[in-house]
Amino acid sequence: METAKRIQNLPPYLFAEIDKKIAAKKAEGVDVISLGIGDPCEQTPQHIVDALTREANDKSCHRYPSYFGLPELRKSISKWYQRRFGLDFNPDTQVLPLIGSKEGIAHIHTAYVDPGDYVLVPDPGYPVYHSGTILAGGQTHFMPLTEENEFLPDLNAIPTEIADKAKLMFINYPNNPTSAIATEGFFEEVVEFAKAHNIVVAHDNPYSELTFDGYVAPSFLSAPGAADVGIEFHSLSKTYNMTGWRIGWAIGNESVIEAFGRVKSNIDSGIFNAIQKAGIAALEGPQECVDDMRAIYKRRRDLVVAALGKIGLHVEPPRATIYLWIKTPEGHTSASFAQLVLDKAGVVISPGSAYGPSGEGFIRISLTVPDERIEEAVARIAAQL
Ligand code: MLT
Repeated sequence: METAKRIQNLPPYLFAEIDKKIAAKKAEGVDVISLGIGDPCEQTPQHIVDALTREANDKSCHRYPSYFGLPELRKSISKWYQRRFGLDFNPDTQVLPLIGSKEGIAHIHTAYVDPGDYVLVPDPGYPVYHSGTILAGGQTHFMPLTEENEFLPDLNAIPTEIADKAKLMFINYPNNPTSAIATEGFFEEVVEFAKAHNIVVAHDNPYSELTFDGYVAPSFLSAPGAADVGIEFHSLSKTYNMTGWRIGWAIGNESVIEAFGRVKSNIDSGIFNAIQKAGIAALEGPQECVDDMRAIYKRRRDLVVAALGKIGLHVEPPRATIYLWIKTPEGHTSASFAQLVLDKAGVVISPGSAYGPSGEGFIRISLTVPDERIEEAVARIAAQL
């Protein structure tokens, strides 16, 4: 059977491939430690789990959910944006709950990208920005994120003829996989660029709460005029250890939210109401759990940075995210080093090249396994070097 041309260039999903490698190694009896995906090992806070179990017994939750999310969840998201960023959004027209932000990131293209249109994608970047483009028949223009440019895209380097044909641009700070943060004035620059070229901006902001050393991450929508040009994706996954629950949202420009909602209501039937109500418990309940997670990731960050430093892998402690972006040791490519570490140490790390061509020369380590496993993983890596 011949697949659609649209998917002939679609790469397998990075983390699905990594899962296959883990399964194969485990089948050989290897005690695999995965520092691949960013998937918190801590439990979802109890008050959120309690809300889910309570609501799951309410039969009103058993029918189809609203296509556009429960009004009370949209209100709760809007109130959180006001509390957290001091921004006001209309919960009825500017907020769209998603079945996890990955789903939304893959579907936003359907609303804006026609075959042949360009999408501006950070390189390295979360793989779904590019795969969503392929699925829509669009063309990716990679925006290299280089160390010299503090892992921010150089907007002046985007050829005008491409910028003029681009419909959508993804940005993501705090950044996955590089852990970089947006510098002062960067979001303003993006707004100006998007206005000049009539581009919809999608800022992916799932790591805004996981920051350290006094850094507080902004919303893209805080930049003047940002809500005229775009939306922000957010998620409960990383802030509240809820990756398995699949709940996130898009917020911002009203016409983008309308078009996006139209696409989604034709594709999916919304999020289980009990999960939406548990989402409200997450956003409106006690927030000490988030402080606890920040402390845990900071401790692991410092532990790994110190241990890697001892074996000559120097990395600046990042001020946000759950990742370390580390230069590949001399004599290896990203992929060969990741393979070596898997084969010889039973440790999974992600090769930087899997996030785009400019990721070559780096590997990514995720801090989402218990301290003792991280310590053991780093010791096993050190033994190979
Ligand atoms: C990652 O490891 O990059 C993320 O956890 C993957 C995801 O959010 O889908």
